Amino acid sequence: MSHHYLRFDNVHYRYPNGCEALRGVSFCITHGEKVALVGANGAGKSTLLLHTDGLLLPTSGHVVVGGVTVTPKTLPLVRRTVGLVFQDPDNQLFMPTVEEDVAFGPVNMRLTDEEVEVRVASALSAVGATELRHAAPHQLSGGQKKRVAIATVLSMSPSILVMDEPTASLDPRSRRQIISLIDSFDHTSLIATHDMEMVAELCRRVIVMKDGAVAADGDTASVFGDSALLEECGLEQPCRFRSVSCCG
Ligand SMILES: Nc1ncnc2c1ncn2[C@@H]1O[C@H](COP(=O)(O)OP(=O)(O)OP(=O)(O)O)[C@@H](O)[C@H]1O
Ligand SMILES: [Mg+2]
Repeated sequence: MSHHYLRFDNVHYRYPNGCEALRGVSFCITHGEKVALVGANGAGKSTLLLHTDGLLLPTSGHVVVGGVTVTPKTLPLVRRTVGLVFQDPDNQLFMPTVEEDVAFGPVNMRLTDEEVEVRVASALSAVGATELRHAAPHQLSGGQKKRVAIATVLSMSPSILVMDEPTASLDPRSRRQIISLIDSFDHTSLIATHDMEMVAELCRRVIVMKDGAVAADGDTASVFGDSALLEECGLEQPCRFRSVSCCG
């Protein structure tokens, strides 16, 4: 069985305060698919993503990564497969320098010094952050932090890349760079985002969430072509899918 696949089976999740953030989520993403996860604020996207590498475990139901069910016992294996970029980069960066943050995963994988150096240089270059290598992460701008957070995950060469709002707070050039990077990642990826134009450009499939459940799951053209569904889910139809042009 491919280690690049990701499956949710009827996943429910209730936060300790009683908020039921996931209500019976099921889907399967197969090898090489690039899937977008969209939904209004509070729909449950981040909660869902935190289940992909076991940072949260279902209250009921199962999450399966490459044939392995996510449980406390399988976490090390699951985390070697899934690379998760958090919504807030401050949750991902904790070392004194960017270089040490990006090296953290490869060092823990017990790679040689030479291999670690190759991984760090290539991950920083992929996100256009080579010049930030010796900077202190807490002194970076929001967009710079976001790029470095992505590099900390890329340096571990995950088979499944999971990103929570990868283009949030990026300037147009950095956004373009991250879009190209995701485009060139030819393994499985799941991307939660409000950047509907990016979804239209990158993802053939989109999962729409509403109130903790999957409201739609299908090819991007048909989901984004359904203006009533999008409105019902509190989303805006991307320009290129509107029947009446809005782009001049
Ligand atoms: N740590 C938490 N404790 C309790 N409830 C939480 C916690 N984190 C999120 N929630 C609740 O779970 C629901 C889903 O939140 P989640 O962060 O998954 O939404 P989201 O789709 O990622 O939203 P956004 O687009 O704003 O990032 C919301 O009702 C939220 O208030
Ligand atoms: Mg979120």
